Amino acid sequence: MALTVKIASIIGARPQFIKAAVVSRALARQPGLDEVLVHTGQHYDFNMSQQFFDELDIPRPDHHLGVGSGSHGEQTARMLTGIEQVLLQERPRVVLLYGDTNSTAAGALAAAKLNLPIAHVEAGLRSFNRRMPEEINRIVADHLSDLLFAPTSAARDQLLREGMPAERIVTCGDVMFDAALQHARRAGERSRIIETLALTRGRYALVTLHRAENTDQPARLRAVVDGLRRVAADLPVVWPVHPRTRAAAHKQGIELPAADPGFLAIEPVGYLDMILLEQSAAVIATDSGGVQKEAFFHGVPCVTLRDETEWVELVEAGCNRLCPPVSADAVRQGILEAVGTTVPATRFYGEGRAAEIIADELRTRYANPDGTGSAEARCAS
Ligand code: UD1
Ligand code: UDP
Repeated sequence: MALTVKIASIIGARPQFIKAAVVSRALARQPGLDEVLVHTGQHYDFNMSQQFFDELDIPRPDHHLGVGSGSHGEQTARMLTGIEQVLLQERPRVVLLYGDTNSTAAGALAAAKLNLPIAHVEAGLRSFNRRMPEEINRIVADHLSDLLFAPTSAARDQLLREGMPAERIVTCGDVMFDAALQHARRAGERSRIIETLALTRGRYALVTLHRAENTDQPARLRAVVDGLRRVAADLPVVWPVHPRTRAAAHKQGIELPAADPGFLAIEPVGYLDMILLEQSAAVIATDSGGVQKEAFFHGVPCVTLRDETEWVELVEAGCNRLCPPVSADAVRQGILEAVGTTVPATRFYGEGRAAEIIADELRTRYANPDGTGSAEARCAS
């Protein structure tokens, strides 16, 4: 007889709310799956957290750990303690993790030490730069996971190279592509951001920035801000500023434009507004993983303000260019040169069914006590 499978999903940061929204919905549609949602509290400002729950109809978390900000050690330690307590109380059949944040790494460690199976969504991504906290987090999560949901074939190949058994890997596509497809129409109906900011469609650059390698190196952050000022002389710039970046600029005495009509440094926006801003931009410049892909989904050229990227297929396809922010001129030139370049319509990220595949695999693999019907058992037979 099939059992009810209790799945504990651990989330905590903005991109995880967006990914979990589509997966939670798919889990709810599968009979026999019961999701327990755990919010670590890593992101906590209204516009970094609750806004996404409201807009995307994400169920209210069953547990909110309220850990907040801190150094990597402090923050991860508080999460580890809180997640362990929740897992001991809930005793889930499997723990579901997303991406590469400290919430992901803490969830992986807490679950592994309790001998609970782990499933990792967005497995196999690598920048090969271990100075990035995300690289450490994703390696820990992948290597402790029993089930690896790879968004692309490149991610799958990387997991195989690292010795992961093939039967643990499911190439399912990218849940962010599902999200973009599911919410594009709603965004068009509901968002008024273009009018509110008095923008002209196709006539502005959209920017986001939050990676430690950019915010915590004053020379790089200054190069970005000065470079954007120079872009703004030719093309208006809209920049929803991540709180990390605002705090870093303040600390480093770098002034962000307040009310310059050609250069809008605004508060973070909701997901529906973000979709509209992305769709209507002439170019997107970012160091975000999610935003690089969304630029591609919406057919907009992208400039990645980093030395490397995990989403290599976009660079190989020529629609994403790496532009390390080493000087204001490099930033200006990189952004303006990308305007008007073409974006191919290749399907790198699946068919928009990643969440459905994930839910189906979790049910098949964990609903039968003897594991029959799982991909593992199917491969063995
Ligand atoms: C985190 C993830 C990163 C992910 C990003 C998504 C880690 C190591 N990093 O980076 O992988 O791409 O989220 O946005 O997990 N802050 C606020 N309000 C908030 C949240 C943060 O003011 O609601 C400020 C605080 O000053 C905090 C800083 O932002 O110290 C950094 O927050 P943190 O969650 O540690 O990392 P992110 O840079 O957001
Ligand atoms: N995003 C948003 N509002 C913003 C900036 C980003 O809704 O002001 C969304 C964006 O569309 C994408 C996700 O947040 O879906 C990306 O998150 P972020 O850049 O914080 O993290 P990363 O993807 O780099 O881990």
